[in-house]
Amino acid sequence: MRAYDVILKKRMGRELAKDEIEFLIDGYMSGDVPDYQMAALAMAVFFQGMTARETSDLTMAIVRSGDQVDLSAIAGKKVDKHSTGGVGDKTTLVLGPLVAAAGVPVAKMSGRGLGHTGGTIDKLESIPGFNTSLDMGSFTDSVNRLKIAIGGQTGNLAPADKKLYALRDVTATVDSIPLIASSVMSKKIAAGADAIVLDVKTGSGAFMKTLEDSTGLARAMVDIGTLVGRRTVALITDMDQPLGRTVGNALEVREAIECLMGHGPEDLENLCIALGSQMVCLAEKAGSPEEAAEMLRGLLRAGKGLEKFRELIENQGGNPECTRDPGILPAAEETVDITAPSNGYVTGIDAEMVGVAAMTLGAGRETKESTIDLAVGINLEKKTGNPVKKGDTIAILHINDRDRAVRAGEMVLKAYSFGPEPPETRKLVMGTITSEGVKII
Ligand code: URA
Repeated sequence: MRAYDVILKKRMGRELAKDEIEFLIDGYMSGDVPDYQMAALAMAVFFQGMTARETSDLTMAIVRSGDQVDLSAIAGKKVDKHSTGGVGDKTTLVLGPLVAAAGVPVAKMSGRGLGHTGGTIDKLESIPGFNTSLDMGSFTDSVNRLKIAIGGQTGNLAPADKKLYALRDVTATVDSIPLIASSVMSKKIAAGADAIVLDVKTGSGAFMKTLEDSTGLARAMVDIGTLVGRRTVALITDMDQPLGRTVGNALEVREAIECLMGHGPEDLENLCIALGSQMVCLAEKAGSPEEAAEMLRGLLRAGKGLEKFRELIENQGGNPECTRDPGILPAAEETVDITAPSNGYVTGIDAEMVGVAAMTLGAGRETKESTIDLAVGINLEKKTGNPVKKGDTIAILHINDRDRAVRAGEMVLKAYSFGPEPPETRKLVMGTITSEGVKII
């Protein structure tokens, strides 16, 4: 077999066979297929696409390039949740403990933030003492005892994805649905879950800006899961403005605690219930998402999620008192108010711009090597649809560096748009994609 012929076949729009895909991925990892041939293949896929079968074969070839986590020592059905990346997305901190309180084992391997999106591991590290580097033994033992553990990724998962992603990043081939779908799903499958719930974001702060593209991506990922025997459900959810009211690590932990106490922002609570219900159903602890939602709301009201979060923190060496006294969490030295320039309504908040503003304050990484400041971030006092008067505080910056604050403040103001009328409300959950089909709500 020659790489040239496989590239040509894809360039002509023909379907590649499993062994041809494996030949390219294996050759790419061994060095027999050079970057320039892999780049040509990525571009051919960008223009010609891939069938569901090709995409799942590509996914599994990427999975086999590295380690695969074995979660078989954990009792029960392990359901993972993955978000395609958002701003202010602290759902794992809320729904992880809540779903665990419903008896579903949550064996969560999370990542760090990059660019305008945050990462669960950074957020958890703002809890004093919290250890995110668990070895596999204590990770599985914790899930068996408490039903939950959250750690950073261990092992060498999907190394072909790392190499391929870096190549796509410099060859204008990132935004291809089969390449994104195989990239995301290869990491989820290698992480060992039995079933997967995907939160595919759509809107200004999302990777996919339109409902059509988000649905296409969700469908491609659900097809992969189905073809490789991992039940997968995707929800299309709104990321046209940041989720909840906070962006920044310690601020987001504080908001997650408030949510688990039962007084979090409505959008955050509703999203956690929607995604959590799908997890509970896939774990076969409820017969329908409606029944699961009722169960989770009951647990939330009874404080069981907060109790579980406290157990999780204590088990991983953190100070559980932060759930009673958030003053223990890192706090910035100063705050700066951003005010409304006119009367009217907030008609939109560009989520990506708010994410970049938070990164500018130091809450996120510009490059993988950047260090972050866990205390800084942004509180969104006004959200889309809220009425405002000129001079009202619309956002509060939590800052440790005034020069950065000036730049971030300008961005936050620019992220807000105002108008004389309230905008049309957007649905939080816009669609559900299962192996049976697409339901746009
Ligand atoms: N996130 C991923 O993990 N992979 C992609 O290709 C794009 C976004």
